[in-house]
Amino acid sequence: MAAPEASGPEPEDLGIRASQELAARARAVLPTAAYEFYAAGSDEEISTGEAAGAWRGRRLLPRVLRDVSSVDTGVELLGTRLAAPVVAGPTAFHRMAHDEGETATAAGVAAAGSLFVLSSRATCHPEEVAAAAGPWWYQVYWLRDADITRRQVERAVAAGAQALVLTVDAPYVPPRATSGLPLPLPEDDELCRSVGVGTRLPGWEQDPSLGLNAIGRLHQMSGLPVLVKGVLRADDAKTCVTAGAAGVIVSNHGGRQLDRAVASADALPSVAAAVGAEVPVLVDGGVRTGTDVLVALALGARAVLLGRPIVWSLALGGAAGVTALMDSYRTQLSTAMALAGCARIGEVDAGLLHGGY
Ligand SMILES: Cc1cc2nc3c(=O)[nH]c(=O)nc-3n(C[C@H](O)[C@H](O)[C@H](O)COP(=O)(O)O)c2cc1C
Repeated sequence: MAAPEASGPEPEDLGIRASQELAARARAVLPTAAYEFYAAGSDEEISTGEAAGAWRGRRLLPRVLRDVSSVDTGVELLGTRLAAPVVAGPTAFHRMAHDEGETATAAGVAAAGSLFVLSSRATCHPEEVAAAAGPWWYQVYWLRDADITRRQVERAVAAGAQALVLTVDAPYVPPRATSGLPLPLPEDDELCRSVGVGTRLPGWEQDPSLGLNAIGRLHQMSGLPVLVKGVLRADDAKTCVTAGAAGVIVSNHGGRQLDRAVASADALPSVAAAVGAEVPVLVDGGVRTGTDVLVALALGARAVLLGRPIVWSLALGGAAGVTALMDSYRTQLSTAMALAGCARIGEVDAGLLHGGY
């Protein structure tokens, strides 16, 4: 079978094939407060706890006697070719996990032939991250002080971001475990420091009055495609597309915003159906194996994003750890596709799902 071998430093040694083991090993090397900040969900952590199970609950109807002697996991996403439909999603404060922070993450993702979404709550200069990255997008929180937002966006555009991801599920941040650690933010950089607790600029918090016109304003400001992240409803997804969104990301923020928000695996089919094939629908939350990725594609996603697994692999192995993780997802997806009778991503469809959508 043609499933490509994972490259990079022995994936098994990093425990990346078993996500629970990966998290446990990261926990052992991280300061407790940092681990808890990354792992936490909000309130009772019901949504965080349900995310992975919602993928695992789906059953597949594999096709047989298809030629799967060569399997291609490659996809194109908004004009960018990726080795697999698995993207490193935006997560905050990577220098709490590893000294080289987002710069190492970006390098690791690039080596795996994938795309990095840089959080606007980053602990490295965006220019340094850009220099290490392959293709990358910039995640935006629209802040109460729109001028900070504008400066962050202009800086990302100048550094070479290829798209913006506007996160819309966080008008406020609910109670959850937060790190007691001081954030290692660049001292010399007012914009970077503005994300840090205790060093906040006035107007740093997300603007809770944000409305649909933010999509168009962001596009005008940047000239870049704008994807909207944190959509769980078909009607919202449609409205975002009508307002100019170049893509929609189905997400409940890793269970860190509204607890008891529906699992993204369960929200995905109706969103994908409402949006249609023209505009890409991406998804994140609890994607832990290549077979989860296969299920997500069958349910209508164009690609998935990873949150916590990226942080755990960064903590354990720096850039090489991130590459090994991404390679592992690609290998697992390739194997799952072959066993399901799919030689190319375009052959993965809802017909693979037992019981349909
Ligand atoms: C520690 C942490 C920080 C995050 N920071 C951001 C962020 O800055 N911006 C954002 O849009 N989403 C953020 N998210 C949400 C992730 O992009 C993503 O939706 C979620 O982590 C996916 O679920 P998973 O962790 O189960 O893979 C964060 C998630 C975690 C766990």
